[in-house]
Amino acid sequence: MKTIRFAIIGCGLMGREFASAAARWAHLPEMTIRPEIVAICDKNADLYLWYTENFPAIKQVTDDYAAVLANPDVEAVYCAVPHHLHQKIYCEVIQSGKHLMGEKPFGIDKAANDAISECIANHPDVFVRCASQFPFYPAVQRIGRMIEDNAFGQIIEVDAGFLHSSDLDPQKPLNWKRMVEFNGEYGCMGDLGMHVCHVPFRAGWIPKTVRAILSDIVKQRPDGAGGMAPCKTWDNATLLCDAVDPTGGETFPMTLKTQRIAPGEKNTWYLEVLGTKAAARFSTKNPKLLELLQYDGGEQVWGQIDMGHETALASITGGIFEPGFSDVILQMWAAFLYELEHGRPIKKFAGCVTPDEVATSHRLFTAALQSHYDATATVV
Ligand SMILES: NC(=O)c1ccc[n+]([C@@H]2O[C@H](COP(=O)([O-])OP(=O)(O)OC[C@H]3O[C@@H](n4cnc5c(N)ncnc54)[C@H](O)[C@@H]3O)[C@@H](O)[C@H]2O)c1
Repeated sequence: MKTIRFAIIGCGLMGREFASAAARWAHLPEMTIRPEIVAICDKNADLYLWYTENFPAIKQVTDDYAAVLANPDVEAVYCAVPHHLHQKIYCEVIQSGKHLMGEKPFGIDKAANDAISECIANHPDVFVRCASQFPFYPAVQRIGRMIEDNAFGQIIEVDAGFLHSSDLDPQKPLNWKRMVEFNGEYGCMGDLGMHVCHVPFRAGWIPKTVRAILSDIVKQRPDGAGGMAPCKTWDNATLLCDAVDPTGGETFPMTLKTQRIAPGEKNTWYLEVLGTKAAARFSTKNPKLLELLQYDGGEQVWGQIDMGHETALASITGGIFEPGFSDVILQMWAAFLYELEHGRPIKKFAGCVTPDEVATSHRLFTAALQSHYDATATVV
């Protein structure tokens, strides 16, 4: 088994998810490469203990990411820090020659993402991908195979979205994710948008134009010090795009929703594809349900398939057992390491987001902001 020695920069919510996935590698019996976490870096020293208690291979604990990049034992970095730090830290990681899994939105805005893309182009030996785990649900893998097989026929319409409701509570205090200077002008699109775009972009469904409606629903929040502070980030975004199906060249409507205030939704990612020969829908609200309609001229019947653990990368979990969030995180990490080792994903829809796909998302979100301000459709 080949080992890739990793550092984590940003040991918060997502840093811990990666560490936990690395500790669960025995779940993946066919992997010939595995991550080992040897260094951690965070400004918040309170986070260190959980890592050092659970991961004996960690030899470096620091609040200075430059020390991690200078460490010759570190071969790859997972970087999960607030968005205003992406450009600087991602570029320095790439320049240090270490492979990078970066979190979305991969730059706080398009200018930051352009700078990261330039850095990637100047370092072709460094493997760089962006995190996005939802396509690794078995039901989404199945939809991906249908797309590859042209099973949908001509695409009629695609709806994809990611809905949260944690911000419905106006008393939830402000944190960096609700502040434009740290989270970015994209707001909810920067937080949730790449997750929504991953499958459509991998399918080649690239928006030509976008008409966006953005909502700032909660305009101020408790500042955590007894007062109130403005909350200027966009809470919800609905993007109506005209996308082109590369198979037949036809244009179709594609709706991409990212909402942080969607009553009743905790962390719901969904995808619906309607075609002339078949239709499919999946939502993480019911992570083992795949709904399919196959149309051959007869009755139009939606069928329900109980998906089990038919993952892209083989798992020891029994095939009848349902998948969940931490399983798809593990699959995403397996896909990153598989592609690092083999130079290509195991399956087309089992690859992490590429730098080109990220760049397309930045063009889309930038055009969406313009569309909202101008109240008109904008070229992507
Ligand atoms: N893939 C997903 O489902 C998912 C979910 C949530 C967040 N994210 C993304 O992950 C990234 C981090 O989000 P999070 O929820 O983990 O945030 P978080 O606030 O929980 O963690 C970020 C960490 O970065 C640390 N940090 C800040 N400045 C630093 C610096 N200069 N050097 C080292 N560490 C520093 C903070 O102390 C904090 O612990 C963001 O890009 C976010 O969009 C992805």
